Amino acid sequence: MKIVTIVGARPQFIKAVPVSRAIRKYNQEGRGSQITEIMVHTGQHYDYGMSQVFFEELGISEPHVNLGVGSGSHGWQTAQMLMQIEELLLAEKPDWVIVYGDTNSTVAGALAAVKLQIPLAHVEAGLRSFNREMPEEHNRVLTDHCSDLLFCPTQTAVQNLQKEGFSNIVNNGQLVDTCFNRSPITDHGPLVVNVGDTMYDAVLQFSEIACQRSTVLQDLGVKSKGYLLATVHRPYNTDIPENLRNILTAFLEIGEPVIFPIHPRTRQRIAALDGLFKSQLENCNVEFLDPVGYLDMLVLERNARLILTDSGGMQKEAYFFGVPCVTLRPETEWIETVQAGWNVVVGTEPSLIIDKALNMQPPQSERGAFGDGYAGERILHTLKNSLP
Ligand code: UD1
Ligand code: UDP
Repeated sequence: MKIVTIVGARPQFIKAVPVSRAIRKYNQEGRGSQITEIMVHTGQHYDYGMSQVFFEELGISEPHVNLGVGSGSHGWQTAQMLMQIEELLLAEKPDWVIVYGDTNSTVAGALAAVKLQIPLAHVEAGLRSFNREMPEEHNRVLTDHCSDLLFCPTQTAVQNLQKEGFSNIVNNGQLVDTCFNRSPITDHGPLVVNVGDTMYDAVLQFSEIACQRSTVLQDLGVKSKGYLLATVHRPYNTDIPENLRNILTAFLEIGEPVIFPIHPRTRQRIAALDGLFKSQLENCNVEFLDPVGYLDMLVLERNARLILTDSGGMQKEAYFFGVPCVTLRPETEWIETVQAGWNVVVGTEPSLIIDKALNMQPPQSERGAFGDGYAGERILHTLKNSLP
């Protein structure tokens, strides 16, 4: 079996690792004919700290191909990827194309595959914000409706797809059982499977290594639970200067140390704010850093008193680690984290951000909902059993 995996943006390198590891393990065990995975990097993210660091830290093979597309408008960027991926798929003729998440790299890979009638699997299918202003929402909906296999991370994601007409659902949307003995088939239209979340797999696989290797707390001179951790990169929060100023104002007024690894988009937008405001950001409680690697990030997350973020992945990781999260968005796709009381959705109003950051308490509730750490294995098993 030959698989082409398409990644391009930071969270996709992380999401793809558990599946790549499962493939490697299967090949090493020699239980069947070898599986070839061709890792294609679109080049959507390209700074060392947004891309290469993840390949080095996570022990996955370097991408076989880097399309080097880089940054640009949505249409331009997606079109460049689409043209190059099409060419690559024509040459490679894979049995499956796998795409991850909801970026422009995801939708480009999905369109290229479906138009060539190559079976397509979407990992992290069924997520919805119901906010059509988010570019990710278009990418998710389009990708799901092109896919043959839809790998959902949660039951909510399965239900979202059911509401859109998907009816071929394994196990009634419950997590498929751990012995993987059911062989789903795709004869009845696209197949929806709740496999759990590969980001949860990755946290389980890398937390211990992160604790052993990372010196980030010492390097920053902070103690466990003695700081807040922040990330911001959504266009709504960065490209509307008032929203960006509101968020930064809240961080300043919180007063406690805030560790803030900055996405390049956000760094550019902060640089464009007016000089008077920017002067308040010098010598303050907010520590602005370049983006950090995954291992440092896991340690920063686990030891934070609270996380402030608009990142999808970080809302989940906060929950996995049992760290309260304040989400700087008007809504979230990860409603399980909110229902369990570990996440509050506040938007950009400074008084709300400050109140929750200072007063939110960890709830007593159990944490679950994202699988059992074997999403990668389930995905591989289903791909093998679903070959047309
Ligand atoms: C993209 C995804 C978003 C995901 C995020 C993860 C889309 C539409 N958006 O958003 O869903 O949550 O990745 O981080 O696909 N830049 C650099 N160096 C880099 C990468 C980007 O300087 O290595 C700068 C460029 O100026 C670029 C801007 O950041 O224009 C935005 O990058 P882009 O990939 O378009 O979108 P993200 O905001 O990263
Ligand atoms: N991440 C990281 N370093 C950083 C910021 C994020 O390793 O400086 C990791 C984070 O732990 C999570 C993923 O990147 O696994 C989230 O990516 P991002 O916030 O860019 O995208 P989103 O999840 O919102 O799509």
